[in-house]
Amino acid sequence: MDFINKTILLTGASSGIGKALAEKLSREKCKLILCSRRVDILENFKNTNQTIAEIFPFKCDVSNKEEVKNTYEKIKNEIGMLDIAILNAGVGHRMKVENFDSKLAEETFGVNIFGLIYWIENIIPDFIKNRSGIIAGVSSLADNRGYSGSGFYCASKSAATIFLEGLRVELKPYGVKVITIKPGFVKTPMTDKNEFKMPFLMSPEKAADIILSGLRKEKRIIQFPLPTVISSRLIGCLPSFLYEFMMTLYDKKK
Ligand SMILES: NC(=O)c1ccc[n+]([C@@H]2O[C@H](COP(=O)([O-])OP(=O)(O)OC[C@H]3O[C@@H](n4cnc5c(N)ncnc54)[C@H](OP(=O)(O)O)[C@@H]3O)[C@@H](O)[C@H]2O)c1
Repeated sequence: MDFINKTILLTGASSGIGKALAEKLSREKCKLILCSRRVDILENFKNTNQTIAEIFPFKCDVSNKEEVKNTYEKIKNEIGMLDIAILNAGVGHRMKVENFDSKLAEETFGVNIFGLIYWIENIIPDFIKNRSGIIAGVSSLADNRGYSGSGFYCASKSAATIFLEGLRVELKPYGVKVITIKPGFVKTPMTDKNEFKMPFLMSPEKAADIILSGLRKEKRIIQFPLPTVISSRLIGCLPSFLYEFMMTLYDKKK
């Protein structure tokens, strides 16, 4: 697959991985629809860069069902049918159990899970009718266990991975591809808040290159970097008692 003449939706395009993806995709001859709440950043990107792609900025809060529906309708009316949807918008909060706050869970699930579901709810009928289309959802390699301090985030990404996996099977007969993107640590405003050392931290530009290469190859799962993929698999296989013991030691060391 290439991106030439494709209509591509990218959510979470104002920062981090999404911003790097937007910069790289803007060098392709495509129609690039950029979404986020901070639409001024997207408009500034359009106005200050000479791009090969046609850029269409949209303001949309992915956790707002009506807003997603209206944005999708606008996109269809003003630009046309999508070929590829890269659903990248996400939030991540660290929370100490002493400050337990369900508001953070509502936001995390609102964006990381319902943000995916609302977009997919709108996109699926058209993709099924056209018997084509690619949905690429950004999950995380942190989908494998409950890491302390990041419970809501891990749970939301675990839900995202499982949801996308089921969807991949269900949409295959309709010629619609579902791709799961699982990055390890990438240096972005989201991870800049982390107080711990992040192994194999990579730049958003490198992450974007890997993601776009995986999309071109239409890989089912795009996961990187390899050392984090291997270690997350190993951690995932540990019996719970051993995992909890190791996590407790690690937390004490921090
Ligand atoms: N960085 C990592 O190490 C890492 C690792 C694994 C997975 N990921 C995943 O990669 C994706 C991108 O993360 P990032 O690190 O690039 O984070 P980031 O720099 O904080 O960017 C997050 C993006 O999501 C958008 N967003 C957040 N809430 C939104 C909402 N309610 N509605 C619409 N857009 C919203 C933000 O735009 P506005 O604020 O302008 O709306 C921003 O463009 C996320 O799904 C994240 O979970 C990141």
